[in-house]
Amino acid sequence: MANRDPAAEQLQEYKKSSSKTQAITTAFGAPVDTKSASLTVGPHGPILLQDTTYLDEITHFDRERIPERVVHAKGAGAFGYFEVTHDVTKYTKACIFSQIGKRTDLFVRFSTTAGESGSADTVRNVRGFAIKFYTEEGIWDIVGNNTPTFFIRDPMLFPSFIHTQKRNPVTHLKDADMYWDFISLRPETTHQVLILFSDRGTPDGYRHMNGYGSHTFRLVNAKGEAFWCKFHFRTNQGIKNLPVEKANELASSDPDYGIHDLYNAIHTGNYPSWSLYIQVMTLEEAKTYKVNPFDLTKVWPQSDFPLIPVGKVVLNRNPSNYFADVEQAAFAPSHLIPGIEPSPDKILQGRLFAYGDAQRHRLGPNFLQLPVNCPYRVTVANQQRDGAQSYQNQGGAPNYYPNSFSGPSPSPSAKASPFELNGVVDRYETAGEDDFSQAKLFWKNVLKPDERTRLVNNLVNNLKSAVEFIQERAVKNFAQVDEELGARLRDGLQLTKKNKANL
Ligand code: HEM
Repeated sequence: MANRDPAAEQLQEYKKSSSKTQAITTAFGAPVDTKSASLTVGPHGPILLQDTTYLDEITHFDRERIPERVVHAKGAGAFGYFEVTHDVTKYTKACIFSQIGKRTDLFVRFSTTAGESGSADTVRNVRGFAIKFYTEEGIWDIVGNNTPTFFIRDPMLFPSFIHTQKRNPVTHLKDADMYWDFISLRPETTHQVLILFSDRGTPDGYRHMNGYGSHTFRLVNAKGEAFWCKFHFRTNQGIKNLPVEKANELASSDPDYGIHDLYNAIHTGNYPSWSLYIQVMTLEEAKTYKVNPFDLTKVWPQSDFPLIPVGKVVLNRNPSNYFADVEQAAFAPSHLIPGIEPSPDKILQGRLFAYGDAQRHRLGPNFLQLPVNCPYRVTVANQQRDGAQSYQNQGGAPNYYPNSFSGPSPSPSAKASPFELNGVVDRYETAGEDDFSQAKLFWKNVLKPDERTRLVNNLVNNLKSAVEFIQERAVKNFAQVDEELGARLRDGLQLTKKNKANL
């Protein structure tokens, strides 16, 4: 049919490509005589326990779902490659950047943040932008977002922050009081909230948005010199956002709009791409820079730290099975390779542990053996064995270290760059560390007048559902960004109250 898109044609294409129909088997490979009737005592009788075909089918079906990701549960993924276009070896020895023209295979998963795995793709949300690079020195994951900043500065607050975006445990409903209570009590969220409620909160699918590593990372070159760095993936499709009305309409007419759009573009050879840039700050510059370089609620202004081109990401292959490749993909900020190291950013430090922990729960202890996660360009050699669903025995090598039997040995060249730490161990609150200056720049210098109007409307339309004292506290925070923003929100909320009263 002429008006059906490639995603809708998937089964027709399968039919065209398969030359003959295969015989059905059980999961253990035995032929199956019928797949439409269970084995019963007479036509109306009970089913026999010896119906191994039925048991084989139903027991697998009963276990088809795994826990969804606690955040970023809804997503779309694709395979592709990264190609180096510019030399950055003076900053990093990471093998992926070793030579201009070098290509490295990758897998990307885009996502929304707060909704469940069946939720709509076009709702206002930060979008996840996670890339897995299959390098010859193991897996490097950038687990970023479509925003260069984040809501909070301390990972201790993350579970609470996420709870306020999810469902009220009593009503099982999204709850504007929970959301705005937290946001207004933690004003460091202001910069990210302004970005989220601007046009960028409803990107047009996943191809028309930028990605950011967001955190500061540490690059180390072959001489052992270190630099602080931020990663930016800029879309070559151009930034495109959905008007609110269109996003709302799509949430019911095509709730899988993002998956749809990505699948069809790749299937028709319209391969999306992003250009990778880095920002670099020397360790010396970091000591005196006016902004804390490890504060995730802030950007590094490009006027001070210009973008340096590095390479491009191209997506050119759809997954052959969504569950195997996309649902089971496990990205982790701790998956780093020599030449790329963590910074002291507290949120990054908190994430280094959280992802592997979540994935051992979600996928089991051997999730790194799954094809989409496996560092297949390396022969994994260590002392880890067994656990649920393990199928590797590393060729019989000794599972202990040290040993006298030619077991795998360490690589001193992989040593991380040394650094000095000192300080008093304590719990340091991060509240009030300049919550508004960059939010002010975003409101005043980045947004155009019409974008400001849409931002105000989006905030009013959401904030109006919260209880009045929370609305007031939120408006007070926004007024610290700019008096005019505060006044416009106050007016907008008054108007909605009046309109409600007149109904
Ligand atoms: C303390 C802060 C954070 C914690 C504890 C945290 C924790 C988690 C956890 C547990 C998951 C599910 C992982 C899985 O089951 O595979 C996840 C997913 C994700 N997080 Fe975070 N997160 C934090 C902050 C961030 C930030 C700052 C970003 C972006 C800059 C981010 C981006 C993502 C993305 C993109 C995913 C989905 C990855 C995928 O597609 O599989 N998170 N996060």
